[in-house]
Amino acid sequence: VAIYLQEAVIFKFTNAVCESFNKSWAVVNTCRLRAISRNMTILNINVTLLHAASNVLIDVQMFKRANGYKPWLFKFTVDVCRFVSKSYNPAAKLFFSVFKEYTNMNHTCPYICNSILNIMFFQGDQLVTGLYLRPELVRLPLPSGDYLISLIWMLNNKQQLMVNVYFSFV
Ligand SMILES: *[C@@H]1O[C@H](CO)[C@@H](O)[C@H](O)[C@H]1NC(C)=O
Ligand SMILES: *[C@@H]1O[C@H](CO)[C@@H](O)[C@H](O)[C@H]1NC(C)=O
Ligand SMILES: *[C@@H]1O[C@H](CO)[C@@H](O)[C@H](O)[C@H]1NC(C)=O
Ligand SMILES: *[C@@H]1O[C@H](CO)[C@@H](O)[C@H](O)[C@H]1NC(C)=O
Repeated sequence: VAIYLQEAVIFKFTNAVCESFNKSWAVVNTCRLRAISRNMTILNINVTLLHAASNVLIDVQMFKRANGYKPWLFKFTVDVCRFVSKSYNPAAKLFFSVFKEYTNMNHTCPYICNSILNIMFFQGDQLVTGLYLRPELVRLPLPSGDYLISLIWMLNNKQQLMVNVYFSFV
């Protein structure tokens, strides 16, 4: 039965939209899905941050479609620099575990930490490469439906970038 249920699952990305709010800071080079098979779509993102940001906050919110997308399940803000050096936020930890193998945004100190000031800088190409969804990634009972996860990046206290990723779970 377990095997049957697993095979019945379709869990894949359906759309990806990235928007820079300040093109002199964040440049979206790539933000697209590629269909590999009927049940598998990979996500590739390549965003260049042109300036060093020492204060990086991401507002993460999940939505479920029902007459438009409605807030669903979670909404949190994660301080990325604090999170990278110490996974202090359980929701962010769960969320990051889904894509940590597919991103270069997983540098740890002292790679991008200024050890004297204890500041971390985010600059350069931020990549997500070949990320796809697998049923075993979901450790929560997820009802069938269409979902959106929205990430609003605040770099040095200004909203600079939006990454919206849509997926369906059947
Ligand atoms: C956009 O980024 C530039 C840095 O390149 C900064 O000087 C400017 O204040 C930012 N503009 C806004 C509206 O955030
Ligand atoms: C990301 O985009 C930049 C700018 O187009 C490019 O120079 C860089 O090679 C890209 N990185 C990857 C891994 O494709
Ligand atoms: C960090 O990302 C790279 C791919 O960019 C991956 O090879 C590596 O395993 C990741 N490290 C951790 C600790 O997740
Ligand atoms: C897609 O389906 C194939 C065969 O039906 C299966 O082997 C594979 O694990 C599935 N992939 C995902 C991401 O569910």
